[in-house]
Amino acid sequence: MKVIYLDHCATTPCHEEVIQLMSKYHSLEFGNPSSQHILGKRALHAINQATKQVAELIHAEPEEIIFTSGATESNNLFLLGLYEWLKETSGNIILSPIDHKSTLEVGNELARRGIEVRYAKVNHQGRIHIPDLERMIDHNTKLISCAHINSELGVIQDIEALSILCSNRGILLHVDAVQSIGKIDINCRAMNIASLSLSGHKIYGPKGIGALYVNKKIRHIVRPLTFGGGQNSLRSGTLPTAQIVGLGHACYLAQENINEHYAKVQELRDLFLQEMRMKVPAIQVNNDPAVSVPHILNLRINGVSSEALVSGLGRLAIASGSACNSASLEPSYVLTTIGLTGEEANHSIRICFSHIKKRVTSS
Ligand SMILES: Cc1ncc(COP(=O)(O)O)c(C=O)c1O
Repeated sequence: MKVIYLDHCATTPCHEEVIQLMSKYHSLEFGNPSSQHILGKRALHAINQATKQVAELIHAEPEEIIFTSGATESNNLFLLGLYEWLKETSGNIILSPIDHKSTLEVGNELARRGIEVRYAKVNHQGRIHIPDLERMIDHNTKLISCAHINSELGVIQDIEALSILCSNRGILLHVDAVQSIGKIDINCRAMNIASLSLSGHKIYGPKGIGALYVNKKIRHIVRPLTFGGGQNSLRSGTLPTAQIVGLGHACYLAQENINEHYAKVQELRDLFLQEMRMKVPAIQVNNDPAVSVPHILNLRINGVSSEALVSGLGRLAIASGSACNSASLEPSYVLTTIGLTGEEANHSIRICFSHIKKRVTSS
């Protein structure tokens, strides 16, 4: 059965070049990168090359990259890693209320441990209201964290404005760039970003690998969450060479022709919307294309349950929310936070486009 895959924000297929490269490091070049012999040295060399590719993509330095199992771990490592520093400095942090659970749940854990967590206000488009945020900041505010692109709405946060706000006040800016890598540019140096999370499987790379960038100037305030051989700066454990090489190549590919890929996806989104509006006039668009990437469309047909729609359209792989929350019967907190009613949220679907055409068959 042919499946039409329109759920690229949940995950992407691994690029053929990535699969081929990784295969070599699973079979021939399998040495432990910490080993001193020739196979270990070759694995380490491959990891160093891949680290450079990740760093280059986000304009960081290789020693600022820490490999993790994915962005959930990256967000946890950075935010929880700051716990002691926040406690010692009586610092408060500000999160975006529509961010991914891997940030919001860490916020809940920090709050449980006694750290004050505040939530920025977002407007009906899902954008953080900067003047309001400014008023929320006080001299104990140590960190602002937000996703560059929201995974349900595609809304792009104004990282430049947030960066200026944070730089002027000596506040750290943490950016969850999972959904923006490969779609729009992000420059850690120019935007004065303190830390950033990214994930392999959202950018045509492998699952189970991600990275955390931590600006070298603040590395000393982040505590590791796991302890061991100290292989990977803040995260101990044998480095998975094949996954890292795969992530490196995916980062390299993400940078290549980024503008052409963006334009192609925009064309696809516009065509899709035009057709949908003709065929299903009742369709409503929940996200504002003016401030969102074209890769994500959030649509609703009032009166039509998204659960029923998603399961009824067997050949069409689309989502009724973000993959991590789609098992929940609760309406999407992202949609209700921007003003939709619970019922409207439950009648909404997410469609994600890609520049890569891939035939998917499943039995
Ligand atoms: C914005 C955002 N942050 C974090 C994550 C978690 O990434 P991972 O699957 O690599 O843990 C996701 C996954 O959907 C996401 O969309």
